Amino acid sequence: MIDDPTRSFRLDGRVALVTGASSGIGATLARALAAAGARVALAARRLERIEKLAADIRADGGTALPVVLDVTDRAAIPVAFDAVERALGVVDVVLNNAGMAEPALFLKTGADALERTMATNFTAPWQVAAEAARRLVAAGQPGSIINVASVLALGAAPGYAAYSASKGALVQLTRSLALEFVRHRIRVNALAPGWFVSEMNEAFFASDKGKAYVQRMPPGRTGELRELVGPTLLLASDAGSYVNGVVLPVDGAHHAALV
Ligand SMILES: NC(=O)c1ccc[n+]([C@@H]2O[C@H](COP(=O)([O-])OP(=O)(O)OC[C@H]3O[C@@H](n4cnc5c(N)ncnc54)[C@H](OP(=O)(O)O)[C@@H]3O)[C@@H](O)[C@H]2O)c1
Repeated sequence: MIDDPTRSFRLDGRVALVTGASSGIGATLARALAAAGARVALAARRLERIEKLAADIRADGGTALPVVLDVTDRAAIPVAFDAVERALGVVDVVLNNAGMAEPALFLKTGADALERTMATNFTAPWQVAAEAARRLVAAGQPGSIINVASVLALGAAPGYAAYSASKGALVQLTRSLALEFVRHRIRVNALAPGWFVSEMNEAFFASDKGKAYVQRMPPGRTGELRELVGPTLLLASDAGSYVNGVVLPVDGAHHAALV
């Protein structure tokens, strides 16, 4: 009997923490991690959203714990990890997904907007990764940390200087951590999604300008949230056990284009 190679994508026995699980990419990927067998902690600021998602996952036979967390509140991060550890065990899959964008031309981007963007998109995943890695190293356990970057970490676009810079910094953090933690069997990778319609950008994609932009994009369409599931499971599971320090674009070749 040949072993089924798709089994290595399963996450049974794992504990996954998803930040920004209350909508869009985070909610979709939290469901997928749970369906693959992980016990999943759903972190975000909007409690009613993550309570509803946890109930849905449980109704489908999974295990989920809603955890209220503002990822920019540094002191709240270890408290959230304590709660998850008590209820589910040591977190060994982290999806650093919480993020925000305030698109504006460079000269119209104030210091406050820059600070908010860096705090959410760069400093927060740094702190979450640090908390997770500290606990995994102490427990002597392997793990997988996945940082959600963006196609705008690989290329640039007018109006996105702060966002692009925050995601570019996250990519370099990913590579640095992969090298530092490889000896502890903690892999650190990044996903670089292209455009997926979510609360962050739905108004733009519903506009004429947004529709024209989609036509100019190499794939000629936005991504479907489900198209992020396979790449995420690869990075999270033993199927990707030798994949470390990569930035995986999931964008229908958008990153490959010069214009
Ligand atoms: N959609 C795209 O086209 C696209 C492309 C490339 C990369 N990305 C990245 O993918 C990630 C998810 O974005 P999305 O498209 O799914 O957008 P979204 O629907 O707006 O979701 C953003 C998520 O981040 C959470 N969040 C924001 N600030 C937070 C904070 N301070 N503390 C805790 N949670 C926070 C929000 O939860 P609460 O408001 O409940 O806290 C929400 O769950 C982001 O990192 C984004 O930059 C998106």
